[in-house]
Amino acid sequence: MKTIAMVAGAALLSLGLAGNVLAGGADLYKTKACFSCHGADAETPIMPTYPKLAGQNAIYAFNQMKDIKSGKRNNGQTIVMKGIVAAISDAELKEIADWLATL
Ligand code: HEC
Repeated sequence: MKTIAMVAGAALLSLGLAGNVLAGGADLYKTKACFSCHGADAETPIMPTYPKLAGQNAIYAFNQMKDIKSGKRNNGQTIVMKGIVAAISDAELKEIADWLATL
């Protein structure tokens, strides 16, 4: 995974897209496996009770991910998401949230 992220990062740099928040968030959504539950298009989740993310308000989505990470949000199905966000930095979560809001 690390190698893939580095290769992808290098590819972005060579394309001159470094610092492009949209490309970064889209890339992280793939490399961090978010799509495996929320769907490749971020609006076709694998379970009917899982949230659609496309078009969600960026600040709201970021805050939800931070609350899931810290344990503040915990409603029974939150646990499946918690293990994923535990390993992702707040800066990366923000980048993904900003990208989701553009969909
Ligand atoms: C193993 C399945 C799974 C994976 C992988 C996963 N999620 Fe989730 N996610 C969930 C579930 C289930 C919820 C709803 C949790 C709840 O009900 O509290 C959720 C909730 C969320 C929310 C809050 C949505 C809202 O409207 O409040 C966001 C944002 C989110 N996920 C983003 C992501 C991102 C970004 C990734 C990748 C870094 C990711 N998820 C990976 C299962 C997953």
